Amino acid sequence: MIKTPTEFTKRNEPFFVLGNWKMHLRASESARIAKGLVSTAKRVQGKVTTVVFPSFPALEKVHTQVKKSAVQLGAQNMSWELDASDTGEVSAEQIKEFGASWVIIGHSERRLKLAESDEMIERKLAAALLRGLQPVLCVGESALERNQGRGLLHIMHQVESAMRYVQPQKDQVITIAYEPIWAISPGKPCEPADADEMTQNIRQVLIDRYGVKPAYQHFRILYGGSVDANNIASYLRLDEVSGVLVGSASLKIPSFRAMLVKAAQLRQSLVKKRTHS
Ligand code: PGA
Repeated sequence: MIKTPTEFTKRNEPFFVLGNWKMHLRASESARIAKGLVSTAKRVQGKVTTVVFPSFPALEKVHTQVKKSAVQLGAQNMSWELDASDTGEVSAEQIKEFGASWVIIGHSERRLKLAESDEMIERKLAAALLRGLQPVLCVGESALERNQGRGLLHIMHQVESAMRYVQPQKDQVITIAYEPIWAISPGKPCEPADADEMTQNIRQVLIDRYGVKPAYQHFRILYGGSVDANNIASYLRLDEVSGVLVGSASLKIPSFRAMLVKAAQLRQSLVKKRTHS
């Protein structure tokens, strides 16, 4: 069990609720949902940070809706190159042109379906940091790896290899999303106790590599996989988890809003507990 230094208890920052829209929505639909989140995101601001990740063709339309709001914008992938003859790729600078400040790196769907290797992910992570994007590095084990008792080793390897050359600077923060592949919907939700064990181990890897203070100062850990308004609090309560990466439940305005409200309520009650203890 890790003993979190008091100044870093949940990093004393808002919870993070990130919506990964994958390839599900058209640009107009993405813009409509983004617009529908603006007022709730404003209401929970300070307690919850809201970030949406539409697909590339929707970035501009979504940006128009959220640019003066509390909703932040991210992309689902990026190239590690700055400028290259790489047909079909999108660079960090091109993403930033549309107001995105976040980027998801190494989602399991890309690792599995598009054969993204550890080396590619390591290069993308370094490039995102260099170009000033906030990276969300996804790690997670398959059902087979878990059943064979190799889940933890796999996660540790994914974290270590992505961080091989990473030395976070000043106020850089790397977000790591633990997403067990078997729990991504329509999979079965991960027990909070299992998510707790894995996220503690991820923090331990970071502590071993960077030391206690930097492991908290420069890294936050999220959970992802079948998160919705009913179970969000059970993950956010875990010591090392400061937010969630959500697919399906982020595709509808009411369920996205409900998650923001639940996260804000929990943040509020934690702050109260802290001031009374
Ligand atoms: P899910 O997706 O919430 O639909 O399980 C999570 C993700 O893949 O990021």
